[in-house]
Amino acid sequence: MLHRDPKQRIFTALPSEFMEPFLPLAIVTFAIFSTIAIGALSAAPWVPTKKRDRDTVARGINLRPGAKVYDLGCGDGSMLFSLVDVHPDIRAVGYEIAFPPLAWGWFRKWRGGSKYKNVSMYWRDFWAKDVSDADAVFMFLMSPAYARMLPKLTRELRDEAIVILECWPFEGISYDQKLGGDGKNLPMFVYSGAKLRAAQTNQKTSA
Ligand SMILES: C[S@@+](CC[C@H](N)C(=O)[O-])C[C@H]1O[C@@H](n2cnc3c(N)ncnc32)[C@H](O)[C@@H]1O
Repeated sequence: MLHRDPKQRIFTALPSEFMEPFLPLAIVTFAIFSTIAIGALSAAPWVPTKKRDRDTVARGINLRPGAKVYDLGCGDGSMLFSLVDVHPDIRAVGYEIAFPPLAWGWFRKWRGGSKYKNVSMYWRDFWAKDVSDADAVFMFLMSPAYARMLPKLTRELRDEAIVILECWPFEGISYDQKLGGDGKNLPMFVYSGAKLRAAQTNQKTSA
């Protein structure tokens, strides 16, 4: 747009002419950060598990060498790294939808070098991922997401696989083991695949 008055030209031209080169960058940045909101709406916002709670889980569960452990909604991979620190022979797999924490997790894995060679983190929607080869599944989500996850877990998990829920238990299902939850630590609720399947069958027959 042409203007005779130079002052007017500056004011009307500034926004579009100066912003145009940055527009693609702004759109990409917005898209990347909006994945955080998508995660929050899908199952839980990104709130990392505290170190002492991660240690409670890592030291509280038995995992054989080669065991496959999933963190569904792995954030920056903190839980996966803590698990591998204590059980270096496991395979730790995380799925995360929010890109910024995941990118930070990839950097941490790279910085850890061979120590974290058994840690894999993917930019994926965990609702679409099969976990039937899991030996353990860890989740720190909002409690409605746990309820939504139950049919998927009972369908896919082997009897001897375990599920560890941070903070909230499955409603109406007694857990096999409780770790932490002494006031300073958040509680962790542990269930076997067999227990979840039996509980869901009972719920169906009594309904
Ligand atoms: C409370 S945080 C837990 C992070 C990590 N597990 C930890 O304990 O430190 C929950 C994570 O789940 C992710 N999330 C939510 N819905 C998801 C989905 N459908 N697929 C993958 N990740 C998801 C969120 O983006 C968030 O990072």
